Amino acid sequence: MTAPVIRAAGLRKRFGTVEAVRDVSLEIRAGEFFALLGPSGCGKTTVLRMLAGLEQPDAGTVFIDGRDMTGEPPNRRSVNMVFQSYALFPHLSARDNVAYGLRASGTGRAEARSRAEETLELVALGGYGGRMPDQLSGGERQRVALARALVKRPRALLLDEPLSALDAPLREQMRFELVRLRETVGIAFVLVTHDREEALSMADRAAVMEGGTIRQTAPPVELYERPADRFVAGFIGAVNLIAGTGRQVGNGSFEIDAPGLGVRLRGAEAPGLQSGCAVWLAVRPEKIAITRPGDEPSGAAAANRLAGTVEEVSYRGGLSIYCIRVGPSPEGTVRVARPNAGSALVQPFTVGDRAVLTWPAEAGTVLVS
Ligand SMILES: Nc1ncnc2c1ncn2[C@@H]1O[C@H](COP(=O)(O)OP(=O)(O)O)[C@@H](O)[C@H]1O
Ligand SMILES: [Mg+2]
Repeated sequence: MTAPVIRAAGLRKRFGTVEAVRDVSLEIRAGEFFALLGPSGCGKTTVLRMLAGLEQPDAGTVFIDGRDMTGEPPNRRSVNMVFQSYALFPHLSARDNVAYGLRASGTGRAEARSRAEETLELVALGGYGGRMPDQLSGGERQRVALARALVKRPRALLLDEPLSALDAPLREQMRFELVRLRETVGIAFVLVTHDREEALSMADRAAVMEGGTIRQTAPPVELYERPADRFVAGFIGAVNLIAGTGRQVGNGSFEIDAPGLGVRLRGAEAPGLQSGCAVWLAVRPEKIAITRPGDEPSGAAAANRLAGTVEEVSYRGGLSIYCIRVGPSPEGTVRVARPNAGSALVQPFTVGDRAVLTWPAEAGTVLVS
């Protein structure tokens, strides 16, 4: 495997009494689309700024292409940042905004101009070079900011919430365009976002951050299917968490005694699980089948079975969310998502109906923290 473009080891940063980043280590591979995902204030921007050299870490090291660049200023690093606010020069045309960095580092006027035009074409703004920033839409200004960051052909582009200023339809379109742009230019993109859908749909791998630390780094499907802990499970998507006591039963399977529900459940692998320890079984709402009593599947598909009463039905267009009471405690409800295939004018379950919930063992992850 090729060496990582960026490697950060043990990064720490404190602002006064705020520990913004504590012990963050990560590796960004050549050409990959990497996302830093987490709630507002968890330290994402600070990590990105330390990679760019805009902020000095209190501890830790930043390697770029294998070289220790920790003390080096931004212009010595072959990475470039795209700011949340775009930060275009208002008095310069799109072309001159893009050419600015080249001119500043001594590239001749004619060459800077032609490379700026080329890069504007790359972001689908061919012919827009003469426009001033206030003659461009929000989406177009953002493309100019992208072109400006790409024009010097950096090894990696660092993007801080690049889509957050755009309205919803444009944001959706720009997701596809950013993915395509990365494929075209072939360099690593590091995307900072608080939007899980953005990270899941765009990234090859994502690091989920909370409270200045990384909780898990993995491809999106793994974050969703096999979250490392309750925080990741809940941040990446809706999830049912059933508390209980774990017990190893061999061949990669675990049993969970859930005293609140008076049942024994089964889930998939859990590193660090010891018999007798407190665990949570995490099950996504769409992995649970809801049927009428007597109609439930049998065999492996019904390795887990809970019976209860429909307490709430929430219509969401393409799907409906059912809240089923399966036990008396406040935590004794399970959420089930069911696609509204066919006509949904009549919902198959209404409040008060008896229902049986079933799901296979591998649909649930056993979590120890
Ligand atoms: N320059 C600064 N001075 C003081 N506190 C800061 C500064 N930059 C960030 N912080 C604080 O550090 C924490 C992490 O901030 P930030 O990295 O911007 O988070 P995110 O990008 O995930 O929203 C927050 O509590 C924020 O208020
Ligand atoms: Mg931020």
